[in-house]
Amino acid sequence: MVKPKDMAPPVPRAERKITIHDRVWYLPVRSDISSFQFPGWCSEPLFSTEQPVHIEFCSGNGAWIAEKAIRHPEINWLAVEKRFDRCRKIWSKIHNHKLPNLVVAFAEGLHLSTSFIPCTSVSTVYVNFPDPWPKKRHAKHRIISLPFFLEMSRILRDNGSLIFVTDDEPYSELFLQLSQEQLALKQQLSAPGFAEPPQEYGTSFFDALFKSQGKSIRYHILKKC
Ligand SMILES: C[S@@+](CC[C@H](N)C(=O)[O-])C[C@H]1O[C@@H](n2cnc3c(N)ncnc32)[C@H](O)[C@@H]1O
Repeated sequence: MVKPKDMAPPVPRAERKITIHDRVWYLPVRSDISSFQFPGWCSEPLFSTEQPVHIEFCSGNGAWIAEKAIRHPEINWLAVEKRFDRCRKIWSKIHNHKLPNLVVAFAEGLHLSTSFIPCTSVSTVYVNFPDPWPKKRHAKHRIISLPFFLEMSRILRDNGSLIFVTDDEPYSELFLQLSQEQLALKQQLSAPGFAEPPQEYGTSFFDALFKSQGKSIRYHILKKC
């Protein structure tokens, strides 16, 4: 069994080198993106089999995506998380559950995607409980934004899905508003445009926390047409 602290970056973080090593894709802030070439999804540092790619942005400790990777070995899963301590927790799950179909990216989500993810190469994108940043002056930190929508319509395959789950009502409203502006991604749920997550959707640290606090959860799904 490995522990999160056993995750050892191959080069000191201060060097800001982009690399994929031991199931972790390192994209440090302010690194030179021209120094790294995306190797292709089906390539040894990433995944060894050609299968549909599903990405979860804002993975936290990875409880949700590790469970998905265990249950769905026929899918290649990429977890994207910008906090190093949380990436370490995902890395330990990858090793302890022996998951060849899960990789974690230590990166800011939109930056990773715009820099490296090829067009129409992803089948499903999930964003589970991203931080809502409710204060106006913090709004720039929200991952759900028009640039994110445009980027997801670029990387998703036709018929690919964008799934967003939140307990935060204003964030849900923002998502619904953006979905009306971004016509490449079409609403799949009838009014009001959200529902309870399906039974088999899975659970995460924040899902369990918010449910224990009696909060209601909003599940949204859009499809690229
Ligand atoms: C509230 S937590 C939810 C974690 C997990 N999805 C869950 O449901 O337990 C949000 C996570 O998103 C990460 N995060 C926030 N913005 C991000 C971004 N732009 N790119 C990557 N990770 C991000 C945070 O570091 C944090 O771990």
